[in-house]
Amino acid sequence: MPNAISGFSKLSKSEKIEWLLDTYFSDKEAARMLVKQYWNTDEKLQKLHDEFIENTITNYYLPLGVAPNFLINNKLFTVPMAIEESSVVAAASKAAKFWLDRGGFKTEVISTEKIGQVHFIYDGNFEELQSFFEIVKPKLVLATSGITKNMERRGGGILDIELRDKSQDLNHYYQLHATFETLDAMGANFINSCLEEFAKTLKNEAKDRLSGDLEIVMSILSNYVPNCLVKAEVSCPIPELKSKDISNPELFAKKFKQAITIAEVEPYRAVTHNKGIMNGIDAVVLATGNDFRAVEAGVHAYASRHGKYSSLTHCSIEDGLFKFWIEIPLALGTVGGLTSLHPLVKFSLEMLENPSARDLMQIVAVAGLAQNFAAVKSLTTTGIQEGHMKMHLMNILNQFEATPEEKSMLMEQFKTNIVTHNAVVEAIENLRNN
Ligand code: MEV
Repeated sequence: MPNAISGFSKLSKSEKIEWLLDTYFSDKEAARMLVKQYWNTDEKLQKLHDEFIENTITNYYLPLGVAPNFLINNKLFTVPMAIEESSVVAAASKAAKFWLDRGGFKTEVISTEKIGQVHFIYDGNFEELQSFFEIVKPKLVLATSGITKNMERRGGGILDIELRDKSQDLNHYYQLHATFETLDAMGANFINSCLEEFAKTLKNEAKDRLSGDLEIVMSILSNYVPNCLVKAEVSCPIPELKSKDISNPELFAKKFKQAITIAEVEPYRAVTHNKGIMNGIDAVVLATGNDFRAVEAGVHAYASRHGKYSSLTHCSIEDGLFKFWIEIPLALGTVGGLTSLHPLVKFSLEMLENPSARDLMQIVAVAGLAQNFAAVKSLTTTGIQEGHMKMHLMNILNQFEATPEEKSMLMEQFKTNIVTHNAVVEAIENLRNN
């Protein structure tokens, strides 16, 4: 076991790397080469990435792919996706193309409200706290005027502050539950700064005006944003579902709807079903410099809002019309954070024609719906492995360090053969032995 190290963050980048190499690596030269191989030769660009986080030693690449042909509210988009999973971009592109010929995606932002809370403990009586809150509420808002000025000028700001009695859940626990409109910013810094100001003012005012003791526990935004909602939908008459892979559209629609209903009623399936949706969502969220952990946490909480984890997508068949839709909470930003710093994020946003946060919510929801359509379509027709393994073929070939010639011969061979790990290994061996 290595010794603990103190003052690590104060070491230079090369000192950190040398410490790592000395402590953990038997082939130090190979490890040093690898770390350096992933550095950008443009020093300024590398420094920018170094400074995103602490203790950066190198870069960790993910592919940035694009899925073209997304028709959203009659406008065409090419959607950037940063993801490592081999089949995701191909599936998104396929779904986009499928719906391009059937009217495309229709989307709607339902609401854009963000939430933050000041959690505190108060040992006096609630009626007194309530009257105190009514008096203090305007002062809370006033105290944040320096922070909210610019946001208000653009039409956003604090929407409301409520006092919530949570003492049934935890003795003496209360909260300020505040709602915000943060426009094109994801708003985490804005909200947290407002909340910390509320907390300071609340504590100060409580000293003279309350008989009980009031202690602030913490002030933080919530990543659960059930009122920052977006909906995306596709629909077409059932016969129009007929395509290369769908020979019997009635049967397809029926099985597809059954699969969605299973995900609605069965949490084990719902988790995997929603994971497939998040394949599309996270990839766009990451490419556009947004916080995918925040989105994940909020989306899964929303999927459990009725007390049981359930599907984020839904399907109906009425009067011969197949309809498939998603409704999800998405707190996204297109200004601030990484959006103006990371060159590839700027590139991705420009590719999306510099969307507002509302536009991006709609694009991301569509990416999730498209991904789910592709997955459930495969699952209910050919099975998932056919497409997955086709895409995974390149990973296996790379694992065996196949040459370009070997790759092209084997890719040709597996156009007509089922891809399994064993079959590919056998084919490589055969090729090399002959
Ligand atoms: C794999 O990353 C995603 C799927 O499992 C999603 C699903 O089952 O719906 C294919």
